[in-house]
Amino acid sequence: MSDEATRYQDSVHTPTEVANPEAYPPRLVKSYPGAPRHPLPWPPEKSAHRLGRQLAELGGITRSQWLTPLDMLPFTDGFESIPDDDPLQWLVTRRPTPSGGARYSAEWYVIAGPDSEVPTGVYYYDPARHDLVRLRSGDYLGRVAARPATTVLVQTNVFWRLAAKYGEMYYRLACLEAGIQVAQALVVAAEEDPTARLCFPDADLTELLGLDPRAEGVHAVVELVAPVPAAFEGPSLAAFPRAFAAHASVLRQSRPAPEPLAPAPAPEPLPSEPDGEPLPSAPAGEGERISLPHAEVDLKAGTRTRHAAVRGFKAETMSIGALATILTAYGRQQNWDLPANLVEFYCVVADVSGVPDGAYRYLPEEHQLELVGEGDPRGRLREAALAALTQQGARTANLWLLPVGDAEAAEERFGPRWYRVQQAAAGGALHRACLAAAAIEVASRVHNDVLTHLLDAWLGLGGRKRSLLVAQLGTEHPAGPRPEFRLTW
Ligand SMILES: Cc1cc2nc3c(=O)[nH]c(=O)nc-3n(C[C@H](O)[C@H](O)[C@H](O)COP(=O)(O)O)c2cc1C
Repeated sequence: MSDEATRYQDSVHTPTEVANPEAYPPRLVKSYPGAPRHPLPWPPEKSAHRLGRQLAELGGITRSQWLTPLDMLPFTDGFESIPDDDPLQWLVTRRPTPSGGARYSAEWYVIAGPDSEVPTGVYYYDPARHDLVRLRSGDYLGRVAARPATTVLVQTNVFWRLAAKYGEMYYRLACLEAGIQVAQALVVAAEEDPTARLCFPDADLTELLGLDPRAEGVHAVVELVAPVPAAFEGPSLAAFPRAFAAHASVLRQSRPAPEPLAPAPAPEPLPSEPDGEPLPSAPAGEGERISLPHAEVDLKAGTRTRHAAVRGFKAETMSIGALATILTAYGRQQNWDLPANLVEFYCVVADVSGVPDGAYRYLPEEHQLELVGEGDPRGRLREAALAALTQQGARTANLWLLPVGDAEAAEERFGPRWYRVQQAAAGGALHRACLAAAAIEVASRVHNDVLTHLLDAWLGLGGRKRSLLVAQLGTEHPAGPRPEFRLTW
């Protein structure tokens, strides 16, 4: 135990000082001067080019917003902190996926094989021009894919874009964003049976892409299998369930799901409040349970409207149906190489019809909430929230999602990679939840500016279990929706 990642997790909770911010250029898109380019059809959604559409829906520059100093107010506490030399208003571009500080450090590369929609080769997806920059022309698919894929997407992160704003915290955000990007990829590329891997020989891939491994991390690969022409479909076999089950068991064996992590040891006795009073929470596993109604939405619908709530929320009751829809997506296992229980799905609820306020663990298989902490959730969240906007959300949102990871179990399985995959699992879970929320017109915002470790005792977490990140969800503040231009679709 006690490796670099553990030290990092225990010591970096907030951004650290960046001594020379001027050393980082404000460039959010790479350029490869002189490299050959392969155009992709525009607008992407109107073309039959699946790869072009998928890349636009992952990392494309698809939205623009008009912001004014008023929009900075919830982050700064006052107009005084807005520099005099700043213009009075900004036109900013946005992408389909959220990004810490809108630094857009996540990038996508493409490894195309002979059956891909673009000529065989290795490419960088340039979101500014919506085209592919060709880096190599050979067929590298067999070296990269673990199954017979037709195209592989590779997700990387340009560390300095985050480091310029967050200092040491860049690594945490890069790992979280890998999960967010992969969650989005698995939704927008659903027509190509996507599977993702976060455990792969990343040093080899870094070389293949020609990247400096210290400056840009290669975090995930997503393997796509292009559809074949549709065949005539035979009649249903639903009338012969025993034969079908026998056949299905062989299919499951041929591609087994990742083994779950070992169960956590019995929780240690809960720590006390500073004044010696025990915390009013039940040990996980024994709390009162609430069954939720069945509710599921197509996450793809959420990719069209998801955005981070700019002004926070309007205190309004959330229905239990909306809660159940969001939690279903939050706890859903993705088609990737990480175990379903790499993170646990904790949440805090306030003013949701039929669910008493408090902290809960969502149990995806049972589709139930288990009470883990009682008491005033809003007060506790406000104390942990750093920025004015996050504090506003503590007062007015209805649901705070807090994925929890057990470093011990993760390290045992993944070695030094444990931190990276655990953060990715947390980011992916939150993004799925935010997509489901967007699909039912519930607003959301992912927040790293919450000192989540201050909430861990209340959540009943022991050993090396920690809450990893927060998303706030609720009814959007009426002044929230910004004039936003869709640059595509
Ligand atoms: C990992 C991560 C951490 C974030 N942390 C914060 C935060 O601490 N405070 C905040 O106001 N927004 C936070 N955001 C939201 C981003 O600011 C937002 O995604 C970005 O401005 C782009 O806007 P959009 O989500 O509407 O596309 C975070 C987003 C991500 C992905």
